[in-house]
Amino acid sequence: MPFQKRPRKPARPQKFGSHAKPPGKKLPTTETPDSKKKSRATVARFPGAWLWLVDEIIPTLVKSRYSPRESWKDKPFDAEDARFFSKGVGELSELFTDERPSELPDYFAHPKFRSSYLLYFLPLQAAKFVSLLDMHPEALDATLQHGDKSGTLNVIDLGAGPGTASLALIVKLLDRALALGRDVPKVEFDWYDTNGAILEDGKLIMEQLCGQFPKLRGRVTVRTHVMPWWKILGSLPKETSLVLMGNVLNENKRSMARTQGPASNEEDGLTRARSAEIESTRLWTELLARAKGGGILLVEPASRRSSQVLSGLRDQLFENQFIPAEATSLWGPCLHAGRCPLAEGRDWCHFSVPIDIPGKWFKNFSERLGSERQWAKFSYLWLASPSPHEGAPAPKPKAGLRRVVSDPLGGWQSKGPSEVLLCEPEQTVRMPVRAHEQIRRGDLVTPRKPAPNLTPKRFKKDQDEDWDD
Ligand SMILES: C[S@@+](CC[C@H](N)C(=O)[O-])C[C@H]1O[C@@H](n2cnc3c(N)ncnc32)[C@H](O)[C@@H]1O
Repeated sequence: MPFQKRPRKPARPQKFGSHAKPPGKKLPTTETPDSKKKSRATVARFPGAWLWLVDEIIPTLVKSRYSPRESWKDKPFDAEDARFFSKGVGELSELFTDERPSELPDYFAHPKFRSSYLLYFLPLQAAKFVSLLDMHPEALDATLQHGDKSGTLNVIDLGAGPGTASLALIVKLLDRALALGRDVPKVEFDWYDTNGAILEDGKLIMEQLCGQFPKLRGRVTVRTHVMPWWKILGSLPKETSLVLMGNVLNENKRSMARTQGPASNEEDGLTRARSAEIESTRLWTELLARAKGGGILLVEPASRRSSQVLSGLRDQLFENQFIPAEATSLWGPCLHAGRCPLAEGRDWCHFSVPIDIPGKWFKNFSERLGSERQWAKFSYLWLASPSPHEGAPAPKPKAGLRRVVSDPLGGWQSKGPSEVLLCEPEQTVRMPVRAHEQIRRGDLVTPRKPAPNLTPKRFKKDQDEDWDD
């Protein structure tokens, strides 16, 4: 790799997100004094609507639909309710984290787990989408531009559950509209999930949220579809402004299999293709053909298995020319279109961003679980719209910029010089760092030459992150 001349000043990492531009205009936040104490600034800005969602609408809905006693249903959600529902939160957390089976049962069939998910996991996962929308503001712009141009912002949410990703999107769209003094375009959501009950809960939450804000009132439609996400072809809109998919691929082997394609269109590819591969080829072809605006955002847990599924899908899309082999085909996290160096093996591509998730009930459940959430951990792949005509490519990465894909090797406690891994096609490359530089996973840096006498330290293996991290 051609290393650049060592800069006089230490390489200052850019904020996690975009390829080329700094994040846009500062927006109002619900920052708490706690977040200021952290050594690194949080990435996500949670607008005011967030607190309505997580502290008012969700607890009220859960109480009215899931309280065991009629007499409780109309009273405000209180500490006694938190105690009651925390049992299910704990059990669901264990299902997700403790030697979880590769085939998860239909946990949403059980009211206890639907209510737990709504109260705790919905805010946790939605916060990751809020972070990603803030990390890639150009992708949100492209989504909005498509909505403005076509008159309707069409969003599909695959494995939507309670519409977690869509709810994160709507609070950010509202926030953007309020900051810019503009209207929210008409938004039409199509939510797909195998569990109808959780879709209905989410739809009610979305309706109640939109009812609170004049800019959203009457502007947002949710259509629900009870079906596996790979059967959507007959019901897809002609064009999508954004496709969202959160925490679905890791749920079962059949979902994973739909990322093993697309098979090559060459004869030998088709000969060896199994029916799932052929089906997934069709699926990805159709999805990509319709994906305009902000493209397709896939978010999965930070675990090695989930992350490497996304890396494998990315490589196949490039190698089989489903998307142009250019960095501009992706909003993130990659800055190149070569093979992912972390698609297999010991290390994997995942991120943890500092976060302070607002919401008193969320904090209450976090404390009960004994897990203060200071980091949002996830892996992701955000495909830009590949359409040659009306597509919105991601900005070209600045020459020389590299993504850091590890924390300092040897751990954060190490006082002396260390190294981090940088992402390059096919391989990772080590870059020396000094402790005070605070360079960490996800940062963008301009690399410098490794010191010849630096003893390489063994990469401290990250824990295979739990699902709910
Ligand atoms: C962990 S939840 C994630 C929900 C939501 N996307 C989020 O990020 O919070 C996984 C969801 O995927 C759904 N699901 C699992 N397998 C599916 C499939 N084959 N097709 C559609 N949805 C599926 C489950 O019913 C559940 O709602």
